[in-house]
Amino acid sequence: MIGNKKNFFCEKCNYKSFKWLGKCPYCMAWNTFKAVNINNDHYKSSIEYYNINDIKYSENKRIVLHDMELNRVLGGGIVEGSISLIAGDPGIGKSTLIMQLCININKTILYISGEENIYQIKNRFVRLKDKNFLNQEIIVFADNNFENVIQIINKLMPNIIVVDSIQTLYYNDNLGSINQLKYIANVLMNMAKKNNIAIILIGHINKEGIIAGPKVLEHIVDVVLLFENSNNNFPYRIIKSLKNRFGKTSELAVYKMENKGLVPISNLSSIFLSKSNKEIVGNVVVIIQEGLQTILIGVESLVSNTRYNASQNFAIGYNYKRINMLIAVIEKFCKISVNSKDVYVNITGGINITDNSADLGIICSIISSYKNIPISRKLCLTGEISLSGEVKEVIDIDKYIVTAIKSGFKTIIVSSYNNIQSYYDDIEIILINNVSELINVLFI
Ligand code: TYD
Ligand code: MG
Repeated sequence: MIGNKKNFFCEKCNYKSFKWLGKCPYCMAWNTFKAVNINNDHYKSSIEYYNINDIKYSENKRIVLHDMELNRVLGGGIVEGSISLIAGDPGIGKSTLIMQLCININKTILYISGEENIYQIKNRFVRLKDKNFLNQEIIVFADNNFENVIQIINKLMPNIIVVDSIQTLYYNDNLGSINQLKYIANVLMNMAKKNNIAIILIGHINKEGIIAGPKVLEHIVDVVLLFENSNNNFPYRIIKSLKNRFGKTSELAVYKMENKGLVPISNLSSIFLSKSNKEIVGNVVVIIQEGLQTILIGVESLVSNTRYNASQNFAIGYNYKRINMLIAVIEKFCKISVNSKDVYVNITGGINITDNSADLGIICSIISSYKNIPISRKLCLTGEISLSGEVKEVIDIDKYIVTAIKSGFKTIIVSSYNNIQSYYDDIEIILINNVSELINVLFI
């Protein structure tokens, strides 16, 4: 019965908890928690509601960063009072990116590190810029006790807080438990909103690729940025926004890790292509869109006789279930028997593609390897494939064509369903309806 349920409120700051606490994690006062029935007056009096017309509209105030690429991914900068999570494999460059952000901003920043001591942190900051660089207001706090963290936040009330990393904070000796992580993130979120502080949480990813110390963080925070690189030998690091309460998702920025930190790359159109013009069997160029950017990317496939009892498919940088689907489409609509072979597909450049318009190029690359016929390096393709083998239209196809022309491509294969707005002299546009036509165009 709801009447029997209890909440606990801190008498000093009104912090709510579902269980009794000896010490308030928000205002740090002792013995202030009082039990209150859910239908009791205290609870009712804390309920506030408004007619939509009475609420004053205010646009989110943003802290604009010096890094234009990161600004773009965030939708114009970090929103004041927001909480963002930046997640990625250990060693990918999360601390480096956020330290660069701290150095180049004129705000009071509290840098909380549970991973390194103050000297190591200072060394890292110095490595990123010359000694007399610093934003004069970076306060370093090397501690992982959450109660101390709350105390220092209450004392300093900075504009920005960085927590490096959220997994190293502990509360009540409960390092690493999911409930604790949720609790810490919730307390921080309340602090961010109440005091208009922008909080950046750094989080490591576990082997399964799940944002470690779990998915639950993704639900709590306002913004989730994923830092990735599927190929360790590749110098580029890719940041994608997976969630953004204040902007578009699937925006992407690319950085190169150099001696003095991460350097943003603003023109992405062809950094994922090999510089060589040599035609190689199984190598094809696809053109896709990630966020607002149209990018040319190399795809390579290898079709070989299976080494196992049953054939297997492998994919790096693309959803392997989708590769299985594309193989079934090739089998049925191109009458090519790839099902009994092992098929390896690799998206070059360490990028994980989420745009399905790479489908047509991947099919082309698999068939090229199967038939041992190379594809011209001056040709690129774009189009998502349906289960009936049709090549679907791409929205804003002219943008794709212009990108291909700018990078010197002479032929582009696209869906005939596309609504091409302009006439192009510099490129041959081949229109196809379905994958079987691809065979007629390239492989006969
Ligand atoms: P780091 O930011 O510590 O990664 P994370 O916080 O995600 O664990 O960066 C890790 C790697 O980057 C490390 O192996 C060293 C390298 N690095 C450079 O190559 N150049 C630099 O200027 C810096 C600061 C780091
Ligand atoms: Mg780090």
